[in-house]
Amino acid sequence: MSSVWIGDQEIIRGNCLDVLRRSNFQKVDVVVTSPPYNLNLAYGMYDDSRTENDYVNWIAEVAAAIKHVLKPDGSFFLNLSGSNSRPYVPFEVMVKLRNDVGFHLQNHITWIKSIGIGCGSTGHFKPVPGRRFMHHNHEHIFHLTHDNDVLLDRLSIGIPFQDKSNIARRGHPRDLRCRGNTWFIPYPTVKSKAQKYWHPATFPVELPLWCIYLHGRRGARVLDPFLGTGTTLVASHFAGAKGVGIDIDPSYIATACQRLSETVEASRRVILDRHEMEQLFRQDGSQREAASWQRKLVSLQERLNKTTGELMLSAEDLQWIREHASPSTKGSLRNWITAAFGRQIDLTVPT
Ligand SMILES: C[S@@+](CC[C@H](N)C(=O)[O-])C[C@H]1O[C@@H](n2cnc3c(N)ncnc32)[C@H](O)[C@@H]1O
Repeated sequence: MSSVWIGDQEIIRGNCLDVLRRSNFQKVDVVVTSPPYNLNLAYGMYDDSRTENDYVNWIAEVAAAIKHVLKPDGSFFLNLSGSNSRPYVPFEVMVKLRNDVGFHLQNHITWIKSIGIGCGSTGHFKPVPGRRFMHHNHEHIFHLTHDNDVLLDRLSIGIPFQDKSNIARRGHPRDLRCRGNTWFIPYPTVKSKAQKYWHPATFPVELPLWCIYLHGRRGARVLDPFLGTGTTLVASHFAGAKGVGIDIDPSYIATACQRLSETVEASRRVILDRHEMEQLFRQDGSQREAASWQRKLVSLQERLNKTTGELMLSAEDLQWIREHASPSTKGSLRNWITAAFGRQIDLTVPT
């Protein structure tokens, strides 16, 4: 077992069961994790082909260890997916976590990866051959708590009202409502496996970020016992949280360390005021497939904490802005940001 700190994030190599059972393991506010799904994926070290029974028992064992380190008002977000050939597994796990571990299923979020609306579609999907099964476009995010009564910051990931008359009619303080329990988070377009860090099963950074925002505790301690490439710790850094991530595989640990170092070194936090946030809300989410600066703005909109106004500009955002935004280009992100926010935002990377 070995551990490395990068900024406020700790990365531990080891078996999560051993690490979580250490007597000095500090309690956590939020757990966000995606364990292996038992779909026979080609992980580096982990063998993803247990019997169904063995798998469900193992996840229950890890969940019991998580319950032990989760604060009384903590949230455990468990991302699972079945497959067309093993559709019951996530539900079997849930029943076991209720009956044997004592967790309450406070919210059941559906993570939509690709969707067709009208005659259009957005998001990537993996085609399924044959005629029996439909393409698998969604996964589960189970929100588990000790007592089913954890208060959440729903507006931190809220969305503006479609019908603006609702704001005055129903006395809402802002043009923002709870987004509900269907989350559309497509994977970013990548052109090679290297951009997915050579890992077979990563999730997009918005997924853990929205879970951390939703739980809503400032400076939360965040845990991911199945860290993979470090996505949850990147989200934890974006959210200003303190994270700890564990993975059994040294090559994924090395990737997570590198990814996180680059993120921590090269990202910049900006805090938007109410007016600036509203400017950003005006971006139409359906424009994510359009011109690249609109896609970038939609992605900033989705990473903004709508309660606190905090937005972390990643190394990639900053690089993109430098490459694409010449001061004379109409509609450039730099100009847009300056015009929309009414002030120059320092986009240089801290040294
Ligand atoms: C689905 S992946 C997580 C991917 C991660 N969410 C990301 O975005 O990169 C599951 C990870 O669990 C790790 N793993 C499997 N068994 C483990 C164990 N007993 N303790 C810690 N990590 C384990 C695997 O090496 C794999 O990287």
